[in-house]
Amino acid sequence: MRGLKWLVELHNRTPLFVKVLGANGFFIVTGALGGYAIARFGLTGNDVLLFIAAGLIFTLVVNFALLRVAFDPLFRLHSVIEAVRSGEFTARSPQIPGDPDVSRLTEAFNLMLDRLNEYRQSVSSQILRALEDERKRIARELHDETSQALTSIIIAQEMVEQGLPEGDPLRERVRFAREYTLRTLEEIRRLTFDLRPSILDDLGLVPAIRWYLKNRLAADGLRITLDVAPEAEEVRLPEETEITLFRIVQEALTNVRKHSRATEVTVRIWLTPGRLHARVADNGIGFSTEEAFHADARGRGLGLLGMRERAALVRGANLRVESEPGRGSVVEVEVPIGG
Ligand SMILES: Nc1ncnc2c1ncn2[C@@H]1O[C@H](COP(=O)(O)OP(=O)(O)OP(=O)(O)O)[C@@H](O)[C@H]1O
Ligand SMILES: [Mg+2]
Repeated sequence: MRGLKWLVELHNRTPLFVKVLGANGFFIVTGALGGYAIARFGLTGNDVLLFIAAGLIFTLVVNFALLRVAFDPLFRLHSVIEAVRSGEFTARSPQIPGDPDVSRLTEAFNLMLDRLNEYRQSVSSQILRALEDERKRIARELHDETSQALTSIIIAQEMVEQGLPEGDPLRERVRFAREYTLRTLEEIRRLTFDLRPSILDDLGLVPAIRWYLKNRLAADGLRITLDVAPEAEEVRLPEETEITLFRIVQEALTNVRKHSRATEVTVRIWLTPGRLHARVADNGIGFSTEEAFHADARGRGLGLLGMRERAALVRGANLRVESEPGRGSVVEVEVPIGG
């Protein structure tokens, strides 16, 4: 037992370079001694062949075992690189004892991934914040300036229309212009909501989602169910968390409408101790999450990746996307509340 422990210790402390040199030195000395013994005792034929075959097999087996064990951390490093490449930015290599050089390499590699991840998160957080701020600014401008101006035009058009005698062709033209302006105003309101739903800032997540489902998602052949636990109804969260949740639900619902061919979609919002959960589930055609999340896949949209980016920026948030072709899909996000 003690001997084995000592051997493991020695293995952990000895660099791969020294191990390979040592093992091969041992084979050369053994081979030379064997050759000397063959010459000394006058062995011939089968004995010599047997000696060469045994030596060869022994050398190969020991080299294979030595290199397999020594390279194991490198194989693991490779699988971590693959995971990071496919978007799992938090994947890290475990510290495997066995070779001091490789251990140092693993440590440096993990540290580098940590730094890159911190940098990536801070950049995407800045980008998302700038994006949301700009959307908010444009939405406010549209609401305060453009919508007000259009409303004044509609009132003026109404006054002109009423001032003209019934049957006057000009009255008909003014009425047409007023309807057109009204439609434009509706369009501007829709755009303002998409840019930044003011209901989200004023009343919170649940009213904003309810409004969105009622006004923006209604589509033929899609049954929409909203199931909100009473205690979740009035929960207010920090602004950034609310907009993150809203955008994730919004993107999940857009995907349901765009891709799922579902007949039913259910949005559930509920609380568990210290956490708020939101879930969008459809009964549509489903998809392969692995393919959809693969950062490399060309021509893919950014919706799911964007969801993951947003969720990663809220401390303690979790995003789960589950789907299989033919089995519908589920997007669930949970965030800590309070504290
Ligand atoms: N609910 C769903 N049902 C079926 N397929 C889906 C669903 N959600 C996503 N997908 C599939 O996953 C792919 C990636 O979705 P993602 O939201 O990332 O991109 P997109 O919707 O194509 O583009 P974007 O969101 O950038 O407009 C979609 O192209 C679609 O094939
Ligand atoms: Mg999408």
